[in-house]
Amino acid sequence: MNKDFLTVLDMSADEIRETFKIALDMKKDRSKYADVLKGQTLALIFEKPSLRTRTTFDVGIQQLGGFSIYLSPAEINLGKRESVYDVAKNLERMVQGIMIRTFAHQIVIDMGNWASIPIINGLTDYTHPCQAMADFLTLHEEKGDLKGLKLCYVGDGNNVAHSLMFAGARLGVDVTVACPQGYEPNLNAFRTAVEAAKESGATIEVVNDPKAGVKDADAVYTDVWASMGQEEEAKERDRIFRPYQVNEELMSHAKSDAIFLHCLPAHRGDEVTDAVIDAPYSKVFPEAENRLHAQKAVMYQLMN
Ligand code: CP
Ligand code: NVA
Repeated sequence: MNKDFLTVLDMSADEIRETFKIALDMKKDRSKYADVLKGQTLALIFEKPSLRTRTTFDVGIQQLGGFSIYLSPAEINLGKRESVYDVAKNLERMVQGIMIRTFAHQIVIDMGNWASIPIINGLTDYTHPCQAMADFLTLHEEKGDLKGLKLCYVGDGNNVAHSLMFAGARLGVDVTVACPQGYEPNLNAFRTAVEAAKESGATIEVVNDPKAGVKDADAVYTDVWASMGQEEEAKERDRIFRPYQVNEELMSHAKSDAIFLHCLPAHRGDEVTDAVIDAPYSKVFPEAENRLHAQKAVMYQLMN
């Protein structure tokens, strides 16, 4: 097991499956794991807002017997008040793990290189690996064996799309990203996913037609059109992404028993309609809950 969890590819397919097994066991019997990280402290560094990531890491470490300390931009002001190197070198002497949500992915790589303790990526502009763990855990709960399933991500080729491609590549789930021209996943991320998929046999593809993309999909996934840090592009993106809205019409082109997933927060009426996100086939809230179980298992794997 790698010291850090910076992208899904930091874990092998077997390690991910083992992490899922632990997560499901924790979900079934919380008390069994009540002391496994007894007395350990996790620093939570946030340079962007959060509901799910903050709550699930905070609650999760407590449920494992540990503590968390929340460090907002006001406390650290990473790279400005103090260099990333100095923050890493301080915190490794004070806490047993760091979860960090930031902008540039290089910051979590640097943290990982400089700190002797585990670094967990709670979202960068490049990836959101804890999200993908919860997403594929949910897919597994809903559909059983993951191998050979198809997930279609509709929308911006962003951090969430990258993580889904990486997880699909590892676990043998075909991932299609349907996005407007010019908003494709990062080329390096795409190539990395395609390379990783050689072992599992998964197909990773990018298309521009959302209807063709969701055809035969077992799961349809979307995310906001403008990510945190892209607020000034929101108006333009709203126009470009409108044909990529996940609505009942688009869902009708997926498999008849397809589920709907979204990392949340959702902008209802934009990337997804109320009718879809509130439908019985929408699993967004179980998916959000699974952030807790998946991340507890990740912390257990890295910090135990
Ligand atoms: N999905 C997710 O990471 O949510 P938050 O931004 O609220 O943490
Ligand atoms: N792509 C979104 C995900 C939020 C959880 C963002 O980066 O803002």
